[in-house]
Amino acid sequence: MEERELNEKPILVTGGAGYIGSHACKALSLAGYEPVSYDNLSRGHAHAVKWGPLIQGDILNKDTLNRAFERHRPGAVLHFAALAYVGESVEEPISYYRNNFCGALNLSEAMRNHHCNRIVFSSTCAVYGLSNRQMITEDHALAPINPYGQSKFMVERLLQDCDRAYGIRSVSLRYFNAAGADPDGDLGEEHEPETHIVPLALQVAAGVEDELEIYGTDYSTPDGTAIRDYIHVMDLADAHVAALNYLEGGGATLALNLGVGRGFSVREIIDSAERVTGRKIKVRETTRRPGDPPFLVGNPARARSVLQWQPRYQDLDEIIRTAWERLCKSANISTETNEACMEAEPSDERN
Ligand SMILES: NC(=O)c1ccc[n+]([C@@H]2O[C@H](COP(=O)([O-])OP(=O)(O)OC[C@H]3O[C@@H](n4cnc5c(N)ncnc54)[C@H](O)[C@@H]3O)[C@@H](O)[C@H]2O)c1
Repeated sequence: MEERELNEKPILVTGGAGYIGSHACKALSLAGYEPVSYDNLSRGHAHAVKWGPLIQGDILNKDTLNRAFERHRPGAVLHFAALAYVGESVEEPISYYRNNFCGALNLSEAMRNHHCNRIVFSSTCAVYGLSNRQMITEDHALAPINPYGQSKFMVERLLQDCDRAYGIRSVSLRYFNAAGADPDGDLGEEHEPETHIVPLALQVAAGVEDELEIYGTDYSTPDGTAIRDYIHVMDLADAHVAALNYLEGGGATLALNLGVGRGFSVREIIDSAERVTGRKIKVRETTRRPGDPPFLVGNPARARSVLQWQPRYQDLDEIIRTAWERLCKSANISTETNEACMEAEPSDERN
């Protein structure tokens, strides 16, 4: 019964015009929900909102937010809207705390005012800070080393308090690195500026950019480059639908890792992108970025058991292939590989 009730109500998706939010809207729509995107389009794209209405609004604007709740009466919220660049957060901490924390504060207040009591929050592995080389479980110490991770950690705490005080239940999904694109080609990753390794590597392969910068080759990892856990964006999107179902079923507030549970170094990502595209990717080695830990790989066991969910994309090349096909489609590039070009380049070309 509960499930039908929520299915009949729209889901407010803050950041629904962004990369992960837009993919989640597609997953919601396929699951029978009506996503209502709420986005200020500072970093997202109106053309990515295809499965429901778009309200152009800012989570920092309480009036617009309250009007959205009044008009659409959402049964739950998926909260993606945030500034999400680690390096930028080190340079602009005030913007990050304001946007990410004050925005979530406004959203929680609007939910309390409008009796909306379920929220799925986009948290991040950046809440863990430094880890040893073990897979990180949710019980790992929360000690963010950059303002971005800190702002997300503060929102998790806020949501726990909102449950105790107002009965707003939440699932904080701590994503590891999102990658890939909708395999149907409807959506992709279009950040401006782009800072994520997979689209950057593919842009170099496509000839859109000249070279790929590797930030740090002196980490204490086998090949010296940073190791991350890459999860396909459609798997993330599906996990949001599963988290909504969990809350509908009366599930308690909790935080869950969303990763695949295995790490790849920057160099392994480049190798995979070269295999997928059949093109050589020219790189330039540079210094570490502030706030970047060497190793972040999540243990996804709890999400698998609590949400009855598991990532469909386990293979790195397959994840990267979806992003490459989408890039080729949007930039009108042939996906034909170029073996001759790969063989002609000397293998020590990368520097
Ligand atoms: N991409 C990743 O690998 C990753 C990893 C961990 C966590 N996350 C989190 O997932 C969420 C989505 O990430 P993404 O990669 O899709 O980012 P994105 O930048 O593509 O999407 C964020 C969206 O939020 C909107 N937005 C930002 N501030 C807003 C505001 N004040 N009011 C209204 N809209 C606002 C932007 O316009 C954008 O459309 C973010 O919260 C991010 O912190 C992302």
